[in-house]
Amino acid sequence: MSPPAVRRRLAPSLLSADFGAIGEAVRAAEAGGADAFHLDVMDGHFVPNLSFGPAMVAAVRARTRLPLDVHLMIDDPLRYAEAFRKAGGDTLVFHVESGSDPRAVVRRVHDLGAQVGAAIRPDTPFAEVEPLVPDLDQVLVMSVHPGFSGQKFLADVLPKVRAARDRVDALGTGADVSIDGGITTETAPAAAEAGASFFVCGNSTFVGGTVGENLARLRAAVEEGARRAVR
Ligand code: DX5
Ligand code: ZN
Repeated sequence: MSPPAVRRRLAPSLLSADFGAIGEAVRAAEAGGADAFHLDVMDGHFVPNLSFGPAMVAAVRARTRLPLDVHLMIDDPLRYAEAFRKAGGDTLVFHVESGSDPRAVVRRVHDLGAQVGAAIRPDTPFAEVEPLVPDLDQVLVMSVHPGFSGQKFLADVLPKVRAARDRVDALGTGADVSIDGGITTETAPAAAEAGASFFVCGNSTFVGGTVGENLARLRAAVEEGARRAVR
């Protein structure tokens, strides 16, 4: 039996938007065909940078009905899951390298009525997340070292995207395989070909050009890669 058709979605990362005009960024991306928004939460401990907390998620929630994908680059995600859910997060993505017990986080996020994703850094093997996959709504493979937008795509993570896609298809759960970091019109095709279904795009959405044209080009790049995939 062939695996179910993969729906490919673009999720602009608001870390690359102008925080002083976040409503305008949300409107432009939504009008340009964004499928979801990706919100990068950083605590200055798990990653060497600080970004924003639940208040920003709530501000975005008030401005769109699209799904909000909250990427928790924080220590102890178990402690903060409820706050991000209450702020309006639809999917809470935690790192398997964070201090919290991964199975406890998965249970907690599902109990809160949200979808749950587990993320791995570029140097974390797929085996670290593999046992959780049956219970996940998303597997996020990082293609840059977490902490900053606008970094160069690390192509050597692509085998992990392939492994995640194969596992999800074998299980038939329909979970997303997400790729995050350095996604551009040049790198998106290879990620799509490897089996990614959810494409986080920060600088390639909001820096340079217009948001609508940027998203249209990214969409075309993703579809080009998907056509190349032997499925
Ligand atoms: C990096 C973040 C990414 C980042 C993506 O730590 O997790 O989501 O904002 O930005 P670009 O697409 O510019 O690499
Ligand atoms: Zn992210």
